[in-house]
Amino acid sequence: MGPSPVEGSAVIPGLTVASPPVPSAPPFRAPSGTHDVLPPESARWQAVVGRFATLAGRAGYGLVVNPVFEEIGVFQRVGEGTDVVRKEMYAFEDRGGRALALRPEGTASVVRAYVQHRPTPPWKVWYAAPSFRYERPQAGRYRQHHQLGVEVLGSDDADVDVEVIVLADELYRSLGLDQVTLALNSIGDAVCRPGYLRLLDAYLAERGDQLCGEHRQRRVEQPLRVLDCKRPECRDATEAAPRMLDHLCEPCTAHFNRVRRGLDALGTTYGLDSRLVRGFDYYTRTTFEFAATALEGAQNAVGGGGRYDGLVEELGGPPTPGIGFGIGIERVLLACDAEGVLAPPEATVDVWVVDATGGDAARDLTWSLRRAGVAADRAFDERSMRAQMKLADRSGARLALLVGPDEASAGTVSLRRLRDDDGTQELVARHHVVARVKELLA
Ligand code: HAM
Repeated sequence: MGPSPVEGSAVIPGLTVASPPVPSAPPFRAPSGTHDVLPPESARWQAVVGRFATLAGRAGYGLVVNPVFEEIGVFQRVGEGTDVVRKEMYAFEDRGGRALALRPEGTASVVRAYVQHRPTPPWKVWYAAPSFRYERPQAGRYRQHHQLGVEVLGSDDADVDVEVIVLADELYRSLGLDQVTLALNSIGDAVCRPGYLRLLDAYLAERGDQLCGEHRQRRVEQPLRVLDCKRPECRDATEAAPRMLDHLCEPCTAHFNRVRRGLDALGTTYGLDSRLVRGFDYYTRTTFEFAATALEGAQNAVGGGGRYDGLVEELGGPPTPGIGFGIGIERVLLACDAEGVLAPPEATVDVWVVDATGGDAARDLTWSLRRAGVAADRAFDERSMRAQMKLADRSGARLALLVGPDEASAGTVSLRRLRDDDGTQELVARHHVVARVKELLA
């Protein structure tokens, strides 16, 4: 038996024609907090990812591609105290009853992959991946955003911290961003942090009623987060709070000093920020964040990361130190807009083929060019010569190849330089045109 006809469709034996859509139904839109990236904006996007791939590849990092969803436990190990895990996760059950979640960040998936595959350390990987957080959407804050990141697993050498931080910094600089600042901190390790937390806890207990509503409640379970809180009540109350940097143990101090010396040696400027604890429970020792000062304060973090020397164990692997960062592509592009850098490319292709003889020449010439590595395009639908020339101009191409009846019968192509004021044109033999185009574009 064939499929039953769709409700509301007209049925003619052997033919099913769908009715037009109900007129009152509004057209679909991308879900709140998500967006489509279309050309020409997508070319800037591609440029940022490409630049990052080059920088990371040059530093010996290999691309890692993880699934977009994982067993929910992978992310819960990141820390139940983390807002991203507590309140913002896209958690769901699949048809097989498995508890899964869309990736809210990249680190947990990379660490899960490390534990699963046990590559030889140090394992240096980069990624460009979507992340999903159920946040209140606003400019620069999305429910699906995209991160460029690196993770290095298997070395606690402070020079790795330096490498990772400088790599992120190089991306901003290479895009032409001048107004990105780096804040640096160390939040100690399992040896020195417990003692510091006792001091901080005692300090906060005396000022509990001066804190913001959220931290009055969460101060005991999340004392470090109080330091990071941007609300004025918490800012004022923690003005004179003990600083982790003053209470680091000897190995953490030595580690942090080497990180600082490395950044100084490589000319990467930073400011110390003893409040910088970042939003995930997994961090140890070095934490850092990049802020685009050209953007509005609340959403100006264009990247951040740090060390997580206990996370591999947390996810069932052997004791293995790790460090990495995530950079928000959308925010980097907003920062580029604010600083007026990274304009979209002016041209989609280098050559436009105009064919007034029916389309065979356009079909054959564009593919000869493309197969020779030249970016080329053409019009379809047998448009008029005038309309084709308009499209050629709009494409931003440097050269137009024109084939009219005369050229077709003589086996030639007219080659016009579009961006020259004089619109110089020359006649080229058809078999020589690809070589001549390459010569002119070189
Ligand atoms: P994160 O600070 O949560 O860290 O995110 C990294 C970057 O992603 C932020 O600095 C920001 O640029 C961007 N971002 C985060 N949330 C949003 C959002 N809702 N809309 C737009 N952009 C956003 C992490 O995710 C850690 N996994 C980074 C890391 C890697 N730490 C160690 N390794």
